[in-house]
Amino acid sequence: MKLVAISGSLRKHSFNTRLARLMSRLAPDGVTLEALTLHGIPLYDGDLEESAGIPEAVEALRGRIKAADGLILVTPEYNAGMPGVLKNALDWLTRPGEEMKPTFGGRKTAIAGATPGAWGTAFAQAGALINLRQLGCELYPGYLRVSKTGERFDEAGNVDEKLEEQVGKWLEGFVSFVG
Ligand code: FNR
Repeated sequence: MKLVAISGSLRKHSFNTRLARLMSRLAPDGVTLEALTLHGIPLYDGDLEESAGIPEAVEALRGRIKAADGLILVTPEYNAGMPGVLKNALDWLTRPGEEMKPTFGGRKTAIAGATPGAWGTAFAQAGALINLRQLGCELYPGYLRVSKTGERFDEAGNVDEKLEEQVGKWLEGFVSFVG
C-alpha cells in the first residue's frame, strides 16, 4: 500500500512536516508513506492558468496523489483555519475542473495536524472537512491532533514515546480504512 502525507507548512523546522516524516518512519510493514511539502506552487491565479496552464509542481503533486492508495493532509492551524498555502494547493489541484474527480473523488483521505498550542489544530481540521467533502474525498473518521509540540519533538526528529504511540495507532487505523 502506498500513502502520501502532505504537510501544509513551508517552514524548514515545521512541526507538521516533522509529523509527516514521523508517519513515514512509523508506517506499518507493507506500507510506504511518502512525506511531501508544497514548495514551488504559485498562488492560484486564473490568468496564470489561462496563459501558462497548470504549474509543473501542481502536476507533480497530482501524480503522487493519484499513485497513492490514501492521502493524509497534515495541516497547521492559522487563525482557526488551514493555512492559505494548503488551501491554495487544493484549489490548484481541482483545476482544470475535470481533474477534480480523478484527483480527489472517492479518495481515502485523513486529516492530521500539529500545533504548539493546546487544541491539536481541531479548528483547522474541522474547517478542512468542508473543503474535502466538496472535493468528494472519502474521509477517515479518526483525526490525529497533536498538541504541545514544543515539548514533544526535538530538532533531530526525535519524539516522545507517547507521541510515537499516538501516531502509530492512528496510522494503523487509517491503513485498515484504506484497506
Ligand atoms: C498560528 N498558530 C496557531 N496555532 C493554533 O493552535 N491555532 C491558531 O489559530 C494559530 N494561529 C496562527 C496564525 C498564524 C498567522 C501563525 C503564523 C501561527 C501557531 C502555529 O500553530 C505554529 O506557528 C506552528 O508551529 C505552525 O506549524 P508548523 O510551521 O510548525 O508546521
